[in-house]
Amino acid sequence: KIYSYLIVMDIIEQNKIRMNRLSANSDGLLRQIQSLDWDELETALVECIFKKEESGLPDEYGPASYFPIIPENPEQKTLYEKAYKHGENLIREAKTSAFTVAGGQGTRLGYNGPKGTLPVSPIKEKPLFQMFAEQILGISRKYNVTIPWYIMCSPLNLEATTIHFKDNDFYGLGRDNLKFFAQGVMPATDFKGNLLLASKDSLALSPNGHGGSLKALIESGSVADMASRGVEHVSYFQVDNPLVSTINPLFIGLHDLQKSDMSSRSLTKTGPFEKLGNFVSTDDRISIIEYSDLPEEKALEKEADGRIKYRAGSPAIHILRRDFIEQFASGERKLPYHRAEKKVPHINENGKLVTPKEPNAVKFETFVFDALPLAQNPLILEADRLEEFSPVKNKTGVDSLESSQSDQIKRARRWLENAGCKILDNSLIEISPLTFPSKIDIERKNFHNFDFKKNLIYLD
Ligand code: UTP
Repeated sequence: KIYSYLIVMDIIEQNKIRMNRLSANSDGLLRQIQSLDWDELETALVECIFKKEESGLPDEYGPASYFPIIPENPEQKTLYEKAYKHGENLIREAKTSAFTVAGGQGTRLGYNGPKGTLPVSPIKEKPLFQMFAEQILGISRKYNVTIPWYIMCSPLNLEATTIHFKDNDFYGLGRDNLKFFAQGVMPATDFKGNLLLASKDSLALSPNGHGGSLKALIESGSVADMASRGVEHVSYFQVDNPLVSTINPLFIGLHDLQKSDMSSRSLTKTGPFEKLGNFVSTDDRISIIEYSDLPEEKALEKEADGRIKYRAGSPAIHILRRDFIEQFASGERKLPYHRAEKKVPHINENGKLVTPKEPNAVKFETFVFDALPLAQNPLILEADRLEEFSPVKNKTGVDSLESSQSDQIKRARRWLENAGCKILDNSLIEISPLTFPSKIDIERKNFHNFDFKKNLIYLD
């Protein structure tokens, strides 16, 4: 350990010397070097480059237990009814807020602009941001309350995101109830820890992962804003999932009744190797093991009833208590860095731009789910996949715009048919989240025997 510490110190020193030389002719680079958090870089190098061989898995763990979406016994049914009402009360009392992480670079999708501005709804082509905004406004109206919405961007997309909202009159939510802020960035290095330059005036910098959201919520003043409004809970979701239930009474209610610091939704995995993080438990703690890290023999383990043991996968939907987030303010509580090997274009020693075909660099990211093992009384509530999860990540195939739109239509059909409507087999259907923010709002309408003889149904 002392040996690797010395190597890291040496690399930090060499980086400093090299950067001082290179920044002699560039004010921009000089400013970046001066504001770089070298201690943080040192931590990232130690955790991601010099501890590479360690597995990072807990010594002993088992599958985490979770609350099933359909209660399994009368006690659970009673608990869910109580939790739903409790959650509704918390919403009504303005104790909840919405929080979207939208600072990613969306490289797999390759869309030109902030991902939240991508048109996703099947008929009206509403952007992701509009889908969430309408749902939040719909819920605010239903409970006659203001729900503040915090949106984390990156320095690369903050301006474009804010302009999008301004151009759309903040989707009727009111400027004061929205807060946009940028997360932190980390420099990329080569595999030995040498800093890379994106141009002669700039380091190769990239957002520091969605785990950066905890610090960013504090440093942007968002947590203080929440405190001044009396907000106690933060409903966390990603920018790419148009089906997400942004403010869910049952989830919020269970989380608060159990005095949980951080709670998560889970999905039943489609198979042992589905690319979702796996919920595991060690004693009274819950953590997530990435799909690539779960050993194959564990992934294949089965229960007596034939279901896979590690079936609870993470769709990255959480609720965090505001005072739990505040614990990350002092820097004593920190999330570990993860190593992501990426292709990072950079300037070489001769000043030439290199565009690598293979991963050539390490990006350092923290993940918000690493806060779970630090949380007291964490809980997991299962979600029905078609109801709540169909993200847009890829250009084609699984988790693409096409698959998400098809799921949006399927869910809308399910909601309407459950409410008693008859619909043609191949109809395109879209339901406005402003008028019907959740399926309960449709069920209450009682469309019994309502016959839609149309191929295109937009319900608002
Ligand atoms: P992804 O892991 O899907 O990453 O992020 P990404 O950057 O959006 O897309 P790819 O991998 O480059 O294709 C999951 C969620 O976390 C947010 C994203 O915006 C998305 O909502 N995120 C990710 C951040 O807010 N900041 C980050 O640094 C990384």
